[in-house]
Amino acid sequence: TPTSVTILPSGRSFPATGKDSILNEALAAGIPFPHSCTVGTCGTCKSRLISGKVREITDAAIALSSQELKDRYILPCQSLARGAVELDVADLADMPDHPLVHTDGEMVGKRGLTHDILEVTVRVDEPFEYSAGQYAELTVDGLSGPRSYSFATGAADRPKDEFTFFVRRTPGGEFTEWLFAEDRTGTRLGVVGPFGNLWLRPSAVPVLCVAGGSGLAPIKSILEAARDDDVRRDFVFVFGARSTRDLYCLEESAALAGSWGTSYTFVPALSEEAPDSGWSGARGMVTDVLAGLPTELLTSCDAYVCGPPAMVDAVEQQLRALRPEGNFFHADRFLDKK
Ligand code: FES
Repeated sequence: TPTSVTILPSGRSFPATGKDSILNEALAAGIPFPHSCTVGTCGTCKSRLISGKVREITDAAIALSSQELKDRYILPCQSLARGAVELDVADLADMPDHPLVHTDGEMVGKRGLTHDILEVTVRVDEPFEYSAGQYAELTVDGLSGPRSYSFATGAADRPKDEFTFFVRRTPGGEFTEWLFAEDRTGTRLGVVGPFGNLWLRPSAVPVLCVAGGSGLAPIKSILEAARDDDVRRDFVFVFGARSTRDLYCLEESAALAGSWGTSYTFVPALSEEAPDSGWSGARGMVTDVLAGLPTELLTSCDAYVCGPPAMVDAVEQQLRALRPEGNFFHADRFLDKK
């Protein structure tokens, strides 16, 4: 018999049949429940069971500590509701509350950003709101599955019916090879959104942003929104790329400093740039750049990180080595889209 799951402290609730995971039932009801892997390994969906019973699909012990298990934490992506359930999902209290919209749209523009990254503009039939850092799923008829792309702008004056995305070419990937093969302007596509947990949590501590490759999109979006919302916090933004030909939006990223109320530091870093190329900026991996930042910053900041999984994992390890506890690390792992 269908019952419901109630989320505290917000008190929002949604119907639960117990036939699908609590996470999926929340998402189906349009609730932006925090999640990432959906298979019980990342711990992002972790919530405390206040009352009621759940049945585990897989053993939650992989992603939860023994203390968390004792404290009745569960993984909603791996739990079925058994009757009415109350869950404490602290992160959801401040979470942006945008209804999930399913609409269609049309590619109305494209611009090359680097040799393998395109900016694509999509005009949607039904305009919708998102928070900077979130993403949408795009589906093109005739191509398999939806692809997730982050909204690449967070400026307050952005159009509500036109979204830009940064798409990196994946050699051999069905979607991106199709997109890069010829001018696809005018193509119709399905758009569902917004999704995602990479929005700027309210706080006063410094913000560390780290982006790699096309992971720049949500970070740029968060920075633009912070500028336009006049967020009074110190920001450090480290952007990692291979060589100068992989750099883009450099002027936009640097120019943010001019309109910032507090301190804003932008560090582009190249990992494979030829020694004699004349590049005078930072060299090395983003983790090398972070190692040179004040420990005080690394142990007090909130971190927002987006890029290839190996980069995100390396940054998480580096920060957690300094600070094992705390909900300060927010990330989106960009998998190459086939
Ligand atoms: Fe990763 Fe549930 S979403 S553990």
